[in-house]
Amino acid sequence: GLPARVRIHEVGARDGLQNEKSSVPTEVKAEFIRRLADAGLTTIEATSFVHPKWVPQLADAEQLFPMLSDVRADLPVLVPNQRGLDRALALGAERVAVFASASESFARANLNRSLEEALGVYEPVVRRAKEAGAHVRGYVSMCFGDPWEGAVPIHQVAAVCTALRDMGCDELSLGDTIGVATPGHVQELLNVLNEEGVPTDEIGVHFHDTYGQALANTYAALEHGVTTVDASAGGLGGCPYAKSATGNLATEDLVWMLHGLGIETGVDLGRLTATSVWMAEQLGRPSPSRTVRALSHK
Ligand code: HMG
Ligand code: MG
Repeated sequence: GLPARVRIHEVGARDGLQNEKSSVPTEVKAEFIRRLADAGLTTIEATSFVHPKWVPQLADAEQLFPMLSDVRADLPVLVPNQRGLDRALALGAERVAVFASASESFARANLNRSLEEALGVYEPVVRRAKEAGAHVRGYVSMCFGDPWEGAVPIHQVAAVCTALRDMGCDELSLGDTIGVATPGHVQELLNVLNEEGVPTDEIGVHFHDTYGQALANTYAALEHGVTTVDASAGGLGGCPYAKSATGNLATEDLVWMLHGLGIETGVDLGRLTATSVWMAEQLGRPSPSRTVRALSHK
């Protein structure tokens, strides 16, 4: 059966804004995150402590993060290495996320490392984060396909998931970075992960909507028992290091489906939609979310 409640891991301010051509003023980002929290989102990924040359859109992490001290939500941040972890911990971050790849090509494109090297970099990052009392999420990108390699063997995905879990990650997020997954594939991966000893309650799903499959994939994951779903307000997003990646599953589209199914989220859809309409004005282009468009064009 379906779960009674789903925790939405909101990624618009990070996965969304990291892909914007124009740079969004730090004050606007802070306001966006504050509005997301006011709309009832309890986990809001705030930014990334990555190399500023690699992701200039998030180069203001040091300025932004302290502006959020009054926001009543968990505010995880991405860290790609020990330098990133140092920067995050220095500002008091309590939740960090490392991001590995299931494919060799994307490890190179995104982290400038081989898949093995990237996992080696993360071992002390996760250990030190845990020692500091932080919650650690482990992202795995390209779980369902890679733009350079095509199919990614499911046991390779499971091996990366298991490696991150063995390091001490509290939770995993299965990334469909380029949005090619379909529901049967989602169920197959979840089954394999369970067989490998990864419990469903430690697994989140992270779908991009390139092929319009994100909601169907989410439904498949819910049926399997997954209760953590990543989404991006207004459907912002993509990934600068993966060609053909479009925005994430829109949070509004997700909430529309979940509430329709009688699944609690704690989110006020009206306030969330108003936030995405406001953000679209800041960005100077309409939200790609179907639900935002339907609810805002009366
Ligand atoms: P590199 O160039 O190989 O780094 O980049 P390096 O270790 O060789 O260091 C070079 C210089 O960078 C050094 O400075 C370091 O100090 C500095 P120097 O000594 O030469 O003066 N440096 C840093 N500075 C600030 N913060 C840091 C940092 N690290 C090194 N953290 C690196 C390697 C990993 C840093 C780079 O490739 C990088 O920043 N990559 C981030 C890419 C990224 O953010 N991608 C998007 C997020 S992933 C995603 O979107 C997918 C996801 O949504 C899930 C899905 O959809 O699948 C999560
Ligand atoms: Mg993503």
